[in-house]
Amino acid sequence: MSTIDSILTENRVFPPSDDFRRRARVSGREAYDALCAEAATDYEGFWGRQAREQLAWHKPFTQVLDESDAPFYRWFHDGELNVSHNCIDRHLPLLANKVALIFESDNGTVRRVTYAELSRLVGRFANGLKSLGVTKGDRVIVYMPMSIEAVVAMQACARLGAIHSVVFGGFSAKSLNERIIDAKARLVITANAGIRGGKVVPLKTTTDEAVAMGGCDSLERVVVYRRAEEKDAPIEWHRGRDLWWHDLVADKPDVCEPTWVGADDPLFILYTSGSTGKPKGVQHSSAGYLLGAVNSMNWVFDYKPDDIFWCTADVGWITGHSYVAYGPLAVGGTQVIFEGVPTYPDAGRFWQMIERHKVSIFYTAPTAIRSLIKLGGDLPKRHDLSSLRLLGTVGEPINPEAWMWYHEQVGGGRCPIVDTWWQTETGSHMLAPLPGAIATKPGSCTLPLPGIMADIVDETGAKVETGGGFLVITRPFPSQVRTLWGDPERFKKSYFPEEYQGRYYLAGDSAHRDDDGYFWIMGRIDDVLNVSGHRLGTMEVESALVANPLVAEAAVVGRPDPLKGEAIVAFVVLKGARPSGEEGKRIIADLREWVAKEIGAIAKPEDIRFGDNLPKTRSGKIMRRLLRAIARGETITQDVSTLENPAILQQLQESV
Ligand code: PRX
Repeated sequence: MSTIDSILTENRVFPPSDDFRRRARVSGREAYDALCAEAATDYEGFWGRQAREQLAWHKPFTQVLDESDAPFYRWFHDGELNVSHNCIDRHLPLLANKVALIFESDNGTVRRVTYAELSRLVGRFANGLKSLGVTKGDRVIVYMPMSIEAVVAMQACARLGAIHSVVFGGFSAKSLNERIIDAKARLVITANAGIRGGKVVPLKTTTDEAVAMGGCDSLERVVVYRRAEEKDAPIEWHRGRDLWWHDLVADKPDVCEPTWVGADDPLFILYTSGSTGKPKGVQHSSAGYLLGAVNSMNWVFDYKPDDIFWCTADVGWITGHSYVAYGPLAVGGTQVIFEGVPTYPDAGRFWQMIERHKVSIFYTAPTAIRSLIKLGGDLPKRHDLSSLRLLGTVGEPINPEAWMWYHEQVGGGRCPIVDTWWQTETGSHMLAPLPGAIATKPGSCTLPLPGIMADIVDETGAKVETGGGFLVITRPFPSQVRTLWGDPERFKKSYFPEEYQGRYYLAGDSAHRDDDGYFWIMGRIDDVLNVSGHRLGTMEVESALVANPLVAEAAVVGRPDPLKGEAIVAFVVLKGARPSGEEGKRIIADLREWVAKEIGAIAKPEDIRFGDNLPKTRSGKIMRRLLRAIARGETITQDVSTLENPAILQQLQESV
């Protein structure tokens, strides 16, 4: 393969209005080009200036980039700061009474927290953690519902220099167990319940199950935030281990001095799927990561002091780290945090909330947009959305028709849409339009941010001028993944492969560039699926299936899905005979539940097919391209001459 064919052609172009451009932080194409030119001429000078101007330092750095241990790049490493100090304390002199968080609960009650209050909440909780012995470098798991407390927990860890690892509340006990063990966490912070769409999510009970699975020797305490009345969310209590959040903070002072940390010290670990079974613990630094969050708030979201910002992502994902827990606070912004789901009580919830809170910048995922079009495409019209001035998307390519609907129905035709390409590993936006400078095209994430050197190469590392290839970043950037927790070798192998002499960061996506130099993301090049904007490794789902006592072998592929982007199709060989009829249906239902228990409900296969075997080459390799064709319901026109057992294809095409 030297190029990858692209079939999408999209010619519509949407330049920013004169009004938007005039007021934008980066105003006009020349201003964007000037920033890029500055970075190209003096890369370290550019990033050094950004870091000095955008972050508050306790001790200034003297070296911008240390490449001596490449690809373990260190940014600003002899400088010292504290991320929570940057997000809270530095705003207090001027913004103490400004609202930082507007929390809307599942049932619509609203709580507002000013920067002064946030400072007290974080201070008290940090003092609570301190009293439990939590100190710099300790790992703390956060397994929380969307809440003010989740942000407080993350900020409190940052304040102490402790390393948080947030686990999405939809993940199973097994996933939580693996993360506690891998991170060697001392503490889990959870809640007696999460409440989403009127339903109780038993986070504390799942935590108990996770610990009961064994191996969590590092774990000392479980701190429980009381989200629901105890009668509505019954939980078991492990004396000596479990501790109520409110008891922990009851006698603690409001002020907790920040612990100054090295710029390169880890801020957090966030586990994400890779192409092998075990999730990767993506480790981010403190200063470089925060700089990425701040710059993208300013450049891509064009943040202004009177904006009301709303990113709908859960704090369990990278988007909820960079654009809920850190970015908006680091710029002193006001943001909405939402506990519930977009479809409860109906598919107009987002639009109702935008009207209610006068949201001006709204950031969500294409999968949410597509499902809201389907469930209530006319609902935005019933709300006054005139407060909006900018829209954003993240997580997967947005299909041009959904883009147009978002643009017209939600944005009233007047709001630029920033389609932001980035990853857990990049920490913040990489490719995205600066909305007052770059004309947008539906479905394209447009151009790299200033200082981000993106390119498209073939498998030998040679630049691909036209057509598709592998997306790479050719120079280290501050918010880049620092290493994989406990697995530096895997870090090197995954992101800095030898084929590229270890020079380029390989994103794992394919992309092509059009005549204007705009980037179009085409999808993953590895065995990673993108289901509703969430990354899942095929291997993880396969391992989960094979762990079931009935299953001998499994192969998982993705199939395009109009709502989820990709849906999971599993091909399964049972230890016993190939089932059919009612028995087959029952086993399918059991296996789906099994995967939900092993990984989480998002990983449930949409479709399961049984065969006596899987299509393999004579050397025993599973022929995934055939499985992909079967999953899509395509007739197989490909060459099957290398196939050991061609008869199997017929079986796998049949559903039970
Ligand atoms: O394939 C790309 C897709 O999501 C992957 C990263 O997933 P994750 O680490 O879970 O982070 C998601 C939120 C940043 C990428 O490798 N992706 C993300 N944003 C876009 C995208 N694909 C196309 N367009 C995007 N805007």
